[in-house]
Amino acid sequence: MSAPGKQVPKHVAIIMDGNGRWAKQRGWPRLKGHEAGAESVRCVVRLCRDLGIRYLTLYAFSKENWVRPEAEVSGLMRLLRWYLGDQEHEFHKHKLRLRTIGCREDLPAPVRREIERIEQATADYDAGQLILALSYGARTELAAAARAIAARAARGELDPESVTEATVAAHLYAPDVPDPDLIIRTSGEMRLSNFLLWQAAYSELYVTPVLWPDFREPDFMAALTAFGARSRRYGGLGGDDKDATC
Ligand code: FPP
Repeated sequence: MSAPGKQVPKHVAIIMDGNGRWAKQRGWPRLKGHEAGAESVRCVVRLCRDLGIRYLTLYAFSKENWVRPEAEVSGLMRLLRWYLGDQEHEFHKHKLRLRTIGCREDLPAPVRREIERIEQATADYDAGQLILALSYGARTELAAAARAIAARAARGELDPESVTEATVAAHLYAPDVPDPDLIIRTSGEMRLSNFLLWQAAYSELYVTPVLWPDFREPDFMAALTAFGARSRRYGGLGGDDKDATC
């Protein structure tokens, strides 16, 4: 399988939204929407693998999601554990590395243990990386980076004047992961919702009205086609305008 368009993203990040609405449309409990959403996760992971997209980051649970009803939160944590157990053999078979970003200490111990075990078992794989954002908030990530940099400065290890963008980037949760080229958001909302705020500086955004449980291969390919047609200028001039006079 090959990706459509002239450029293929190296890193795709997805805000998986609309599980609740999908379930509500059917008169089903919200957890049914999350379960169907887990199927979309499997589908997109497979597509990234087949297309050679090396990094896939999924916003699976935000720092803010803890305020949801206890039954939904515990259902989501159970689903996450089920997904990891169900897919572990796929990670090994395809040499896929599992990582997480976010406040791991917030997660229930059994989930944390399962994640840590699979992270360790897949740490040396290099065919691609699946990065789950769990209890993740970009402002929390940036505040933690600021605290770590300030602590280093206080210990005399670092001159505050020497702090650059690269210093901040080096203190994020996954500093070795390139910034996302493409951020997809399902269910039509036009916002980043505290997701990868630093890393999204030059990401291309793609918003689709499709609800996450319905988001499958044709929808992902449509996002890649749209990305392939974008002109990425990073603040400069693109294409024919490069030689324009002022
Ligand atoms: C947002 O939809 C989605 C979530 C808060 C959870 C995402 C979880 C999954 C896709 C399932 C499992 C994940 C993995 C990694 C196996 P929403 O509930 O806010 O939808 P709504 O806006 O329609 O209410």
